[in-house]
Amino acid sequence: MLYSKKVMDHFANPRNVGEIEDADGIGEVGNAKCGDIMKMYIKVDGDIVSDCKFKTFGCGAAVATSSIATEMIKGKRIDDALKLTNKAVIEALDGLPSQKIHCSVLAEQAVKAALSDYYRKNGIDPEPIMGKIDAHKSEDE
Ligand code: FES
Repeated sequence: MLYSKKVMDHFANPRNVGEIEDADGIGEVGNAKCGDIMKMYIKVDGDIVSDCKFKTFGCGAAVATSSIATEMIKGKRIDDALKLTNKAVIEALDGLPSQKIHCSVLAEQAVKAALSDYYRKNGIDPEPIMGKIDAHKSEDE
């Protein structure tokens, strides 16, 4: 089968869909390749990502990757959430077809965009933090 059971499950029953009205960080990213859009909302309590929701206007793999990404960062410390890579997302989904790898990159970028927004809102320049994170590069195709 083209898609793993986990991908099908997260596509059919995506977790944490919706928006957080008083979000501490919102990230919106678009995929230049396909035009799909992902929006990620986070709530931060101390240094913990206490809640996370998403809305994806995109393909099934984009829905599945954003769904699992919210599960992977919820309850985590911000530092750990920042380390989320698209590779980890793919592994958690038991793999993705190669032509769908870019969808997982969108999930990683949406999480990072939401965290950047959180830093900015708190008067912290996210650039140095995100720059460090970029050291472990996303894998795209
Ligand atoms: Fe666009 Fe998957 S095809 S994110």
